[in-house]
Amino acid sequence: MNILLTGGMGYIGSHTATLLLNMGHQLHIYDNLCNSNIDTLDRIKKITSKEVGFTQGDIRDTKKLTEVLINEKIDAVIHLAGLKAVGESTQKPIEYYANNVQGSISLIQAMQAANIRTLVFSSSATVYGDPIYLPYDEEHPTSPTNPYGRNKLQIEEMLLDLANSDNTWSIARLRYFNPVGAHESGLIGEDPNGIPNNLMPVIGQVVDGRLPMLNIFGDDYDTPDGTGKRDYIHVMDLAEGHLAALTWLKGNLGCHTFNLGSGNSVSVLELLHCFENISGNKIPYQVVARRPGDLPEYYAKADKAAKILGWQTKRNLTDICNSSWLWFQNSKNKKST
Ligand code: NAD
Ligand code: WQD
Repeated sequence: MNILLTGGMGYIGSHTATLLLNMGHQLHIYDNLCNSNIDTLDRIKKITSKEVGFTQGDIRDTKKLTEVLINEKIDAVIHLAGLKAVGESTQKPIEYYANNVQGSISLIQAMQAANIRTLVFSSSATVYGDPIYLPYDEEHPTSPTNPYGRNKLQIEEMLLDLANSDNTWSIARLRYFNPVGAHESGLIGEDPNGIPNNLMPVIGQVVDGRLPMLNIFGDDYDTPDGTGKRDYIHVMDLAEGHLAALTWLKGNLGCHTFNLGSGNSVSVLELLHCFENISGNKIPYQVVARRPGDLPEYYAKADKAAKILGWQTKRNLTDICNSSWLWFQNSKNKKST
């Protein structure tokens, strides 16, 4: 298949790119590099020994996007381009709506112009909001609590309206839980600019001395050790979820929603201790106040993806910590050269 990957230079996109290339697909990445680095392209080529096309462009540039879709004879699109920091979205909501919602409208218009009707979209478990019950299944009511989450829900609803209006579309809306880990080569992983928001990149910056310690946001939740529990999913399992969805969409019309999670939750302290054991590093930490908006616990009911897509996670917390540790060591070397 000829696949266009928007946001393919980012954390999830670059890992998905290696998998798709290794499975024999032709790939073109479209990314404006607002949160990624051109070096990643060489790393993807190094891992796969395959050629990969790249256009630097913004998804809101409908004309440019349409040209790429036509010239590269694209069959299907995996749409990952977007801004993703929950906290930032509350500070800059209009930037988020413009980039994420307007950008997705532009992509759909470009796909219509190029007559492409197969789309996999990166959504998020954040669309569910406060749990009415756990685990979240795909039927759980949606009620996101921040602009980023509302962007994702608006795009999801737009895609449903689109599929209802035109029965030639095949769309998968994938709700990711907490993506973590890195490629087994140690060549690509997550390394956000500035001070990260998410737990694993914070641990990475404590390991390499950029941050003095981890602040644990509360140890008084109603969980066994008092710290927050999440459904962490290895980024290569997530990449495999995209491939499974894309393959399944080829024989199925309409708009479909799938949770991509492991179905288990792990606490901050459990993840921290696993990482300490694997790396042999003691991670200094202090417990601070709860982070506003954080939930005590959430995790996926992942049965639908298993039953319909034949996909489930294969990697465990040890694999997550091993790959992260390898990536942190490699990226530290990269920064000092
Ligand atoms: P990332 O920031 O590493 O990657 C996103 C990529 O999109 C970057 O390379 C960025 O340069 C590009 N991009 C952003 N806006 C663009 C635009 N207007 N035009 C072209 N390119 C643009 O993020 P990620 O973690 O890889 O996330 C990928 C997708 O998955 C996002 O849509 C995100 O919302 C979603 N998601 C991420 C998580 C997570 O925790 N990482 C969880 C659920 C969903
Ligand atoms: C995990 C746990 C924190 C940092 C976010 C988005 C969600 C999705 C995934 C995009 C929590 C604790 C964290 C730190 C800590 N992204 N923590 N100290 O908040 O579950 O989900 O990323 O769609 O929408 O909200 O992930 O990694 O920030 O937090 O104690 O410095 O780690 O309190 O319990 P979160 P996270």
